Amino acid sequence: MALWGGRFQGETSALFKLFNDSLPVDYRLFEQDVVGSIAWADAIASVGIITATECSDLKTALNELLVEVNGDPAIILASGAEDIHSFVESALIAKVGDLGKKLHTGRSRNDQVATDLKLWCQSEGAALLARLESLHAELLALAEREFDAVMPGYTHLQRAQPITFGHWCLAYVEMIERDISRLADALTRANTCPLGSGALAGTAYKMDRHALAAALNFASPTLNSLDSVSDRDHVVELCSTASISMMHLSRMAEDLIFFNSGEANFISLSDEVTSGSSLMPQKKNPDALELIRGKTGRVYGSLVGILTTMKALPLAYNKDMQEDKEGLFDVVDSWAICLDMAALVLSGLKVNRPNALLAAQQGYANSTELADYLVSKGMPFREAHHVVGEVVVAAIAKQIPLEEFSLAELKTFAAIIEDDVYPNLTIEACLAKRDVLGGTALPQIQQAIAAKKSALK
Ligand code: ARG
Repeated sequence: MALWGGRFQGETSALFKLFNDSLPVDYRLFEQDVVGSIAWADAIASVGIITATECSDLKTALNELLVEVNGDPAIILASGAEDIHSFVESALIAKVGDLGKKLHTGRSRNDQVATDLKLWCQSEGAALLARLESLHAELLALAEREFDAVMPGYTHLQRAQPITFGHWCLAYVEMIERDISRLADALTRANTCPLGSGALAGTAYKMDRHALAAALNFASPTLNSLDSVSDRDHVVELCSTASISMMHLSRMAEDLIFFNSGEANFISLSDEVTSGSSLMPQKKNPDALELIRGKTGRVYGSLVGILTTMKALPLAYNKDMQEDKEGLFDVVDSWAICLDMAALVLSGLKVNRPNALLAAQQGYANSTELADYLVSKGMPFREAHHVVGEVVVAAIAKQIPLEEFSLAELKTFAAIIEDDVYPNLTIEACLAKRDVLGGTALPQIQQAIAAKKSALK
């Protein structure tokens, strides 16, 4: 039976019930609804609506319900209730009769659903933070294993300058750290309790909302009842934080898919996270990474969905807002499994050092070094850049790397070039020169890893 039958004389259509009911989605708020209801029982007892005994009977029944449903979760959906709040209330009435009908005094499903969802965001948010931290640890461990494995760094997907695999890992460590800070920040802002805001104007019972907020582990109560029941910023912020993080994961996935390709062959992925082709026996496909890249799209879709649903909604609650949960739940599930999968991919990843080094040695990745050498001999950088461009054209024509030109040949481009040019053109020299904060020189990478690890402690 619906909670609101009295006002109606006709039956609602079956199609309307199917369209309107949110239980198939919001059943996931069951635990939060029970916890919120227990806190609400105390709140209405504190203002004399129910006696201490009634309050304790209600709480006992709610706790029993929690145990029963955990034992057999299917009873929620089998109930055919309109939403999770109706389910909990009906189940309570089935247990304690008329007393159960007192619980909703002074409360609305509007402040109730806002509270349930914020509680859910807090607990899922904490689990997501833990997953981000595991991925962070996995990246740091990989950075440590491969800190000196040389590979080409790219711009425009053209080989640009040599870097190390450890340096590549540390770039994603920076991104994950920003993701962690963004999520923690969003959760701090969402740490306010809407309960006691009623339908929109505030509850009519003069209770201590600070105590109610504290009972539910929120940092404080919300301060305006209209905003309390209509605010979904926490949903938007979780979706946007997830979207930015998925953007990072998708870039990491794309880098690794390329590194794993037959053309690059800088890394090998573990059998644990790859699959074969039904037709081509030789294939080992990077499915895990492709799915991370692919799931990014649906996460962005949910962000745009909730922003669009909320756009121009008049204050306060509108049923449009019931559409907030499906996207959010999918975002949180997708983000969580992608974080776990990314960590698993990294844990089994091997760098094919000889191939990666060979690629770094090709493609004239030491051209900048030759220009810097000319600068060190007094040539202005712009002129040096031009000269080295000519050397590269000649080298391509001869199909040799820069360092295979003889000194006499090099002197035809710039007479100031001497024998001391050659040590400047080695991979080791290219890396060692970048010994500045944030650079790819090995001591910088080692220092960065050590600093990150000590920050963890
Ligand atoms: N199932 C609803 C939701 O998810 C609960 C709030 C219903 N409030 C109302 N006034 N109909 O938003």
